[in-house]
Amino acid sequence: MSPMRLLTAVPRVPGHLAVIMDGNGRWATQRGRPRWMGHVRGAHTVREVVAHCARVGVGQLTLYAFSSDNWKRPREEVGFLFDLFASHIDRQLASLVANGIRFSMIGRRDRLPRPLVDAIEVAERRTAAGRRMHLRVAIDYSSRESMQGALALDGARQAARLDATILPPVDLVIRTGGERRLSDFLLWESAYAELAFLDVNFPDLSTADLDAAFADFASRERRFGAVPIKEIA
Ligand code: FPP
Repeated sequence: MSPMRLLTAVPRVPGHLAVIMDGNGRWATQRGRPRWMGHVRGAHTVREVVAHCARVGVGQLTLYAFSSDNWKRPREEVGFLFDLFASHIDRQLASLVANGIRFSMIGRRDRLPRPLVDAIEVAERRTAAGRRMHLRVAIDYSSRESMQGALALDGARQAARLDATILPPVDLVIRTGGERRLSDFLLWESAYAELAFLDVNFPDLSTADLDAAFADFASRERRFGAVPIKEIA
């Protein structure tokens, strides 16, 4: 790719958006409610985020639903989340198919409950032809672990695993909930991502918040290590 190609204007919306959905628990406790209610509200927000991203032309949306470190949470909360993921996927499947959205999961499957893996695999099969947007959900995901697993292999096996593990580059990472870190999410893919840390808890994330983040993204000059456009004679 020539240097001039790298300096073309930033598109209005990110081609690949990654979202760290944080703040569900705080959303609930701030209202005197149990944490699970925050996750249920979060699932509503997931539906709106997916619909909005597809509407405005985001090509790939990757959502961080459950990190491999989240196994440290109470067993009841982990079980609740897995049930919620499975029922959400089941309920949204027809809409994903109708809207041309391809669904897939990244992360480890071997530790997930069978009904969740079944729901994921059905959704992956039935949405495989979707071309409008690719929605990925990260469950039992660790960026470091997935890279280490690939790098531990050798020769052709390593190349094949890296190829299957590394996603297309992320253009914009949005993290809700006020924390300012990546928490082992898409570390390699975010090498040149723009970062947006929003002080809103995930259940309260609105389409207006997304549009504001996209407008800010569109105003940034992404140089990928090159010189600023204005300094090119
Ligand atoms: C982080 O908030 C959120 C999670 C660990 C779960 C994310 C799950 C959803 C948004 C529900 C639906 C998702 C799908 C894909 C159907 P937190 O619990 O860490 O909040 P806290 O930091 O305030 O405690």
